Amino acid sequence: MAKTTTIYICQQCSYQSPQYLGKCPNCSSWNTLVESIDRTASSSAKASLGPVPKPVKLSETTQKPLVRLKTKVDELDRVLGGGIVPGSVVLLAGDPGIGKSTLLLQIAAKFKALYISGEESVEQIKLRFNRLGEKSSHLFILAETNVDQVTAAARENTFEVVVVDSIQTMITEELNSAAGSVGQVRETAYRLHRFAKDTGVAVFIIGQVTKEGTVAGPKVLEHLVDTVMHLEGEAHHAFRILSAAKNRFGPIEEIGVFEMSEAGMTEVKNPSKQFLTGRIVAPGSIVVPILEGSRSVLTEIQALTNPTSFGLPVRRSLGFDQNRLQLLVATMIKRAGIPLQNQDIFINVAGGLKIAEPAADLAVCLAIASSVFDKVISKDTIAVGEVGLLGELREIRFLDKRLDEAKRLGFKNFITPKSAKTLKEAVGLAIRK
Ligand code: TYD
Ligand code: MG
Repeated sequence: MAKTTTIYICQQCSYQSPQYLGKCPNCSSWNTLVESIDRTASSSAKASLGPVPKPVKLSETTQKPLVRLKTKVDELDRVLGGGIVPGSVVLLAGDPGIGKSTLLLQIAAKFKALYISGEESVEQIKLRFNRLGEKSSHLFILAETNVDQVTAAARENTFEVVVVDSIQTMITEELNSAAGSVGQVRETAYRLHRFAKDTGVAVFIIGQVTKEGTVAGPKVLEHLVDTVMHLEGEAHHAFRILSAAKNRFGPIEEIGVFEMSEAGMTEVKNPSKQFLTGRIVAPGSIVVPILEGSRSVLTEIQALTNPTSFGLPVRRSLGFDQNRLQLLVATMIKRAGIPLQNQDIFINVAGGLKIAEPAADLAVCLAIASSVFDKVISKDTIAVGEVGLLGELREIRFLDKRLDEAKRLGFKNFITPKSAKTLKEAVGLAIRK
């Protein structure tokens, strides 16, 4: 085989250079040149295009039924949109140690699968496999980092699923750059993608997340795959939340909840109950029913307020949008007359959920009020509703579904835009001074 040539392409302006340059001579950006295979130099690209392809009328095309492989792990099937789609490429991204390898090894064990490890030896994987108590007799393991060898080995057999752990360890010898570099990540992912589409085998790619919180390697990796899933959670806590940031075969609002246990990643079937275990009722605590895809999940909002010791008051939140918190605090001061001007305010969403919907506004405000007045909100109270800048409470989606979940778990007192029209009124209902 003729040696392929590589070129360096600027990711900003597409300037091409035969060698690596720190600064692009064309657009003056730094560190934007990425090694790529020079496809114009290879003979195949120069060959004629072949016969002209014929477009077909969409109305005359027949649709093959989409048969999904059920993993029987409901929390994963739901996030995938109902199971694994053959021939799809799924990227699973997450911090080191969060449980990506564990989860995908457990999933692979359910199918005729090939698990490629570029990070661990076969012995290490076997150890984990035994620890997980898995007994699959149709799971194959290969410790290999050369992507061309990987796809060749995967073509030797008829697998349903191939797992690649991880994309940062994969290389193709046609590029000179190191494993994990933008060029290698992009090219090896492209080859795995081609393999999946050619063979109809579902490919799971594990991707490490960098310190900046993005999937290492270029954004193009996210464009290339069909589904991007994130596995998140605090390394020192057991809960792991699986969510889809992109899905060509399903919705992206669904989440899966897992717990990292001695037996690997176990499903949490009743997340509301789990998120509320260990809850103590003290000033600053209230429960909110939020919507995660098709489910309502109850979680606790905790607030802590302290007089500011010097300088500007601090407002911090974990699991809740920082800017939104600022807006809510300003609204509480102006519209409900709550003295927060000189208070440091901290918000925490228990259980590690990240709340994106404004429906949690009211609960955040009430938790803050409860803390600053040092008054407990009764244990069986939930609050939900969007808070406007005028201090009004606004209707939210699927209130009934949320209340049903709250009733199921024994809550009796509901503060909603139906029971109070303004934030001030809601504070009065929650906190009886
Ligand atoms: P791992 O799947 O290796 O994480 P990743 O691939 O995302 O880097 O999981 C690593 C952690 O999980 C490790 O600290 C040990 C822990 N663990 C368990 O708690 N239970 C288990 O059954 C297994 C296999 C791992
Ligand atoms: Mg791993």
